[in-house]
Order: sequence, then structure tokens, then C-alpha cells
Amino acid sequence: MKIIAFNGSPRKGGNTETLLDSAIKGTGQEVTCYRLNSMDFRPCQNCGGCEETGICTLKDEFSPVYDDIRTADRIILASPVFFMGLSAQTKAMVDRSQALWCEKFLLKRDIPAGPGGRKGLILLVGGMEKEAGINCAAKSATAFLRTVSVPENETLKYMGVDAKGDILKHPTALKEAEEAGKRLATP
Ligand SMILES: Cc1cc2nc3c(=O)[nH]c(=O)nc-3n(C[C@H](O)[C@H](O)[C@H](O)COP(=O)(O)O)c2cc1C
Repeated sequence: MKIIAFNGSPRKGGNTETLLDSAIKGTGQEVTCYRLNSMDFRPCQNCGGCEETGICTLKDEFSPVYDDIRTADRIILASPVFFMGLSAQTKAMVDRSQALWCEKFLLKRDIPAGPGGRKGLILLVGGMEKEAGINCAAKSATAFLRTVSVPENETLKYMGVDAKGDILKHPTALKEAEEAGKRLATP
């Protein structure tokens, strides 16, 4: 089973990364993890170049990731909430899936699923106790998964997790992430 993960937090060893590490541990498998903040890629330019091909015209560090998205059986997306939505790093990655949106919705070609289907896991942390931002981020992350032909996913949301390391003080988060990772990797 091929599992890939996107870490959309710029903070090394931050709450998102800690949570993601627990989920990865839960899978019990090798996971290819993209630390988006360390990658050199541009957001979608809305050039329209992918509309007839489903292939992005930008050639950068994100280009090889398309193949990984296509061939993954499981996709984990982890992001902090920044200004009521996904972090810019995560959103840039999500927007680059526009090429796959064109392939699915304009060219009517779904990414084929393996025998165990395609499933996803969304992990979100936000400093505020209000739901609006984390729900907004969840909508965007879910739209990404549907675009890349992942029809089902679990979403874990943790609010009031702000300072670096706060997630470690959460009574259930790490255990829940680990269990969600385990469920994700179950065929
Ligand atoms: C630029 C920026 C914007 C933020 N905006 C929000 C927000 O709108 N809502 C919220 O709940 N938390 C917000 N936060 C707090 C982060 O979500 C919080 O600190 C989170 O734990 C960071 O995760 P990390 O340690 O993985 O980077 C913001 C933080 C930053 C740096």
C-alpha cells in the first residue's frame, strides 16, 4: 500500500508535524512525507494550460509529486489553520491540483483506485477555540481529496492548540491520530 503525506506547517517540530508523526506511526508503514515549506514550487498561475491535457505547465519541485498523488492508495494532509483557512504552503499545493481537477472534471478521467480503494486523512490544528477557521480549512482540504479521486476520508480537528508543543498537552490528540493512521492503512 502506497501512502503519501503533506505537511503544510512551516514550524519544524510544531503541532502539525507532531500530530502527523503520530498518524504515520499508526500506519506502521513507510510513508513518503512532503514538507511543503521546504519545497521550491509556485502556486497555480491559472494559465489554462492544463484544461485540455490535465498536465500542469509549471515545471518545478512539485512536478514529480503529481505521479505520487496518482499512484497513492492513501493520502494524509496535515495543516495548521492560518487566517481562517489552510496555511499558504498547504493551499499552494492544493491549488496545484487544478491540473488534476481538469483531468477529472473536464476530461472526465478519474484517477484509478487500487484494490483497497483511495482513502484520505486530514489533520488540522488551530490556535483559536473558534470552529470557523478550522472548518474552512477542512472544506478546502476535503475539496483537494475529492479532486484527486479520494472519495472518503477522516478529519481530525484540534482547536486551542497554539504554542509549539501544545499538542503534546492535549489529552487525546496523539492517540487519536495514531489510531486514525492505523485505520487508514487497514485495507
Ligand atoms: C500566520 C498565522 C495565522 C494564524 N491564524 C490562525 C487562525 O486564523 N485561526 C486559528 O485557530 N489559529 C491561527 N493561527 C495559530 C496556528 O494555527 C497555531 O499556532 C498552530 O498550532 C500552528 O501549528 P504548527 O505548530 O504546526 O505550525 C495562526 C498562526 C499564524 C502563524
